Amino acid sequence: MFDAFKSSFNFSKSEPKVDLGEYPLLDHPPHHVGIIMDGNGRWATANGKTRFQGHQAGTENLRRVMEHSTDFGVKMLTIYAFSTENWKRPPLEVRGLMKILENVVDNELENLKRNGVQLRHLGQLDKLEPVLAKKILYAIDFTKEGQKLVLNIAFNYGGRSEIIQAIKRLMLDKIPPEAVTEELLSHYMYTADSPDPDLIIRTSGEFRTSNFMIWQAAYAEYYITPTYWPDFGKAEYYQALADYCKRDRRYGGRNG
Ligand code: FPP
Repeated sequence: MFDAFKSSFNFSKSEPKVDLGEYPLLDHPPHHVGIIMDGNGRWATANGKTRFQGHQAGTENLRRVMEHSTDFGVKMLTIYAFSTENWKRPPLEVRGLMKILENVVDNELENLKRNGVQLRHLGQLDKLEPVLAKKILYAIDFTKEGQKLVLNIAFNYGGRSEIIQAIKRLMLDKIPPEAVTEELLSHYMYTADSPDPDLIIRTSGEFRTSNFMIWQAAYAEYYITPTYWPDFGKAEYYQALADYCKRDRRYGGRNG
């Protein structure tokens, strides 16, 4: 049933490299892009497919977007693949999403490594099946030298629970209240050594954060599109990045 996922994440050479005429070099592309990959289910309904096939199509699209990311100069991608709230979905769908991740770590590690991708995980590993958790840790270690693109997979991730775990660890470390700063708390997040996301893309037209990187996204720019995730292609990705390049990021200050 899940064999179709085996081909996902192989950076197929069939797509042409970026045509700089079609996609002019971006002036200052975002370093870190977060993506809320929404709309797989609605894409499936609209195309007469099962939800599972929708997630399959979403995974194929992720493979393409990873490749475009390196073409466009994005260095870090954080994808929201399974939220702490997604456990409420029907067990079959939950199992399907677990299997997708397992297939990625079972079958795609050589490809990822060859393409300079460094895998990282954001979220609670201890709530996952121990075998899957172990495979994720192995994948992180196996790809740790990757220099082209860091792929943070937010899986069993929730922004609020991330903050709670950070506070608990602060307390276990007996950090006195006066020593607690934004910078220090940032180091207790799953993203400890990563820069905050510059741009967050949300597909399928919903205007909410859905508990995604709520600490880190304080000054992120947002790009929201009605396009369903499996249809979010190269041209629109470029559009989102070009749009970001035009934004005036003031971080609460003012220019001039
Ligand atoms: C939201 O669409 C999507 C998800 C909950 C899962 C996203 C996962 C993938 C694209 C697979 C990639 C995963 C890994 C582990 C690499 P939805 O199902 O909520 O869509 P709907 O709102 O239209 O029903």
